[in-house]
Amino acid sequence: MMATPLLLIIALAGTTLADCGYAYLRNTTSQYVDAQSRGLYTAMTGLIPNTTYTEQFKPVDIRVGILSKPLKLAHNRSFHDPVRCTTFTEIIVTDPSHPYVIGTRMETDGAKITKIETLVTDAGDWLFNATGYAYYNSLEKWDPIPAQEYDDPAVIKAAGDAYFDRFANANVTVPYGTPCARLEGGAYTDSGLTGNNTCNLGLPNTIKVTDRRYVVDVEMGAVNIYVGFPGLDRASNEPTPDSHLFRVEKGKIRYIHTISTCEGHPGCGLNGTGLSVFLC
Ligand SMILES: *[C@@H]1O[C@H](CO)[C@@H](O)[C@H](O)[C@H]1NC(C)=O
Ligand SMILES: *[C@@H]1O[C@H](CO)[C@@H](O)[C@H](O)[C@H]1NC(C)=O
Ligand SMILES: *[C@@H]1O[C@H](CO)[C@@H](O)[C@H](O)[C@H]1NC(C)=O
Ligand SMILES: *[C@@H]1O[C@H](CO)[C@@H](O)[C@H](O)[C@H]1NC(C)=O
Ligand SMILES: *[C@@H]1O[C@H](CO)[C@@H](O)[C@H](O)[C@H]1NC(C)=O
Ligand SMILES: *[C@@H]1O[C@H](CO)[C@@H](O)[C@H](O)[C@H]1NC(C)=O
Ligand SMILES: *[C@@H]1O[C@H](CO)[C@@H](O)[C@H](O)[C@H]1NC(C)=O
Repeated sequence: MMATPLLLIIALAGTTLADCGYAYLRNTTSQYVDAQSRGLYTAMTGLIPNTTYTEQFKPVDIRVGILSKPLKLAHNRSFHDPVRCTTFTEIIVTDPSHPYVIGTRMETDGAKITKIETLVTDAGDWLFNATGYAYYNSLEKWDPIPAQEYDDPAVIKAAGDAYFDRFANANVTVPYGTPCARLEGGAYTDSGLTGNNTCNLGLPNTIKVTDRRYVVDVEMGAVNIYVGFPGLDRASNEPTPDSHLFRVEKGKIRYIHTISTCEGHPGCGLNGTGLSVFLC
């Protein structure tokens, strides 16, 4: 009678069980942040020869990508989705020799990293100003949500989806909170800290944003969505590689952080025009 459970335990001990719990996912992002600061991708134990690595949504050899450059991180913050087995990390580098704002989304199978999608923004990208990104971020409060106030993950995801759905349909109501603030590249919609809802500044209604990839983190009250953003780059017909991070509190959007790369078109076609537009 004892034999069966014992055999079962022995059998299980030889198996690698996929585990997408917070502990595993946090380990993965913590290793990533450490690897980026050292410029040592080999320090990530979850990499396999098969791991897909992209920058700006294009395949890049990890040995020559941004992960091989040591960076002095002014800020890092990670999000973990135990349901989708995905993570998102936001990094700001204010080092004057080369400032960056970097977003990295990882997909795992619970044991290995299957995909790393990094968005590397620097001078010439959408409203880029790493000093501004670090400054406005530092004014914000991104503490973990108290457990008794967790939103349903579906509610968090729906808030981010409503934002993108609104780009194709003016009838969609986006659950903005008051206050609400959007940080894009380094520009802030509420630099005066009015306490108003400065996310509801008007959006186009003709843009279909597809190919959404999610990281939903209930503990952080956040959803990160990677998209290809059509029309953001005025100089291109290609969708712009883009990350939107939404902080959602009690069902309402509190903060939005965007990272958008302008592929070969400084300022996405608006660089030097003096225009400081918010459109995404
Ligand atoms: C992450 O996991 C690796 C491999 O299991 C382990 O060596 C390392 O100590 C862990 N790191 C952290 C920060 O938990
Ligand atoms: C690599 O990818 C292929 C195709 O997706 C898969 O069949 C194979 O098992 C993978 N190898 C490892 C070591 O994960
Ligand atoms: C990342 O952020 C955490 C929390 O703020 C901090 O403790 C850690 O030192 C940072 N890591 C690096 C490599 O800068
Ligand atoms: C335009 O973009 C370049 C990088 O491509 C940057 O160095 C320059 O400062 C930008 N000019 C303005 C006016 O923003
Ligand atoms: C970048 O942001 C900082 C902090 O808000 C600001 O002082 C600076 O003027 C900004 N730089 C540009 C080029 O807009
Ligand atoms: C938006 O609502 C108006 C009024 O109800 C309706 O006429 C219109 O067809 C709706 N537009 C879309 C895109 O659903
Ligand atoms: C927005 O903030 C300004 C400055 O604090 C205040 O004067 C104004 O009444 C606010 N508007 C709304 C609609 O709350």
